[in-house]
Amino acid sequence: MANESLKQQVATAALKYIKDDMTIGIGTGTTVHYFIEGLKNYRHRIDAVVASSIDTQNKLKNVGIPVVEMTSVNQIDLYVDGADEVNPHKQLIKGGGGALTREKIIAYNSKQFICIVDETKCVDILGQFPLPIEVIPMARSIVARALVQLGGNPVYRENFITDNQNIILDVNGLDIMQPIALEGELNQIPGVVSNGLFAQKTPQTVLVAKNNGITEV
Ligand code: 5RP
Repeated sequence: MANESLKQQVATAALKYIKDDMTIGIGTGTTVHYFIEGLKNYRHRIDAVVASSIDTQNKLKNVGIPVVEMTSVNQIDLYVDGADEVNPHKQLIKGGGGALTREKIIAYNSKQFICIVDETKCVDILGQFPLPIEVIPMARSIVARALVQLGGNPVYRENFITDNQNIILDVNGLDIMQPIALEGELNQIPGVVSNGLFAQKTPQTVLVAKNNGITEV
């Protein structure tokens, strides 16, 4: 079955987690795009929506769903987002779309985090997908050198600036056998804003679309 169809199916499955008067956080990416499409039918039932990126904010506005700032929200009830890789422990690599920092802020501050992926994202060990790291522009070379020291091969993401006006280094070759420790270690490098490992805080639920249906992890 085509990937797009699987993305649509898993996004539709996530709509069932919406309850009346919820404040909902919305991730970024092509899978989430299908969730936004479905969310327009729920817009009168939900209380507020927070977006993890300008791209998502625009998509929500296009379907008539007003977006509120994170600063005006006390608690997010439900956060729905995709991922680039998911391991059997529900640890993730995210940031393919470059929105990792805002995504992590929302994920950490949500009562329930549901990750929606198609089966191509499921791996035994994280790291085939290059790990995105958001970096303050002036620290680009310093951080790149530190990443090489850790065994990584950082690649500057050309022609890309994050919504926070920073750059992204996509890092190949890191040993991600201990994702929780590595997530913390990377954050200690001065100049790193955040990294795409979501291992310290994982989703409660991962919905995986396969050719024979949706599996809940
Ligand atoms: C954006 C992300 C996305 O969730 C991730 O890249 C998956 O995107 P897609 O659903 O398009 O495959 O982390 O920063």
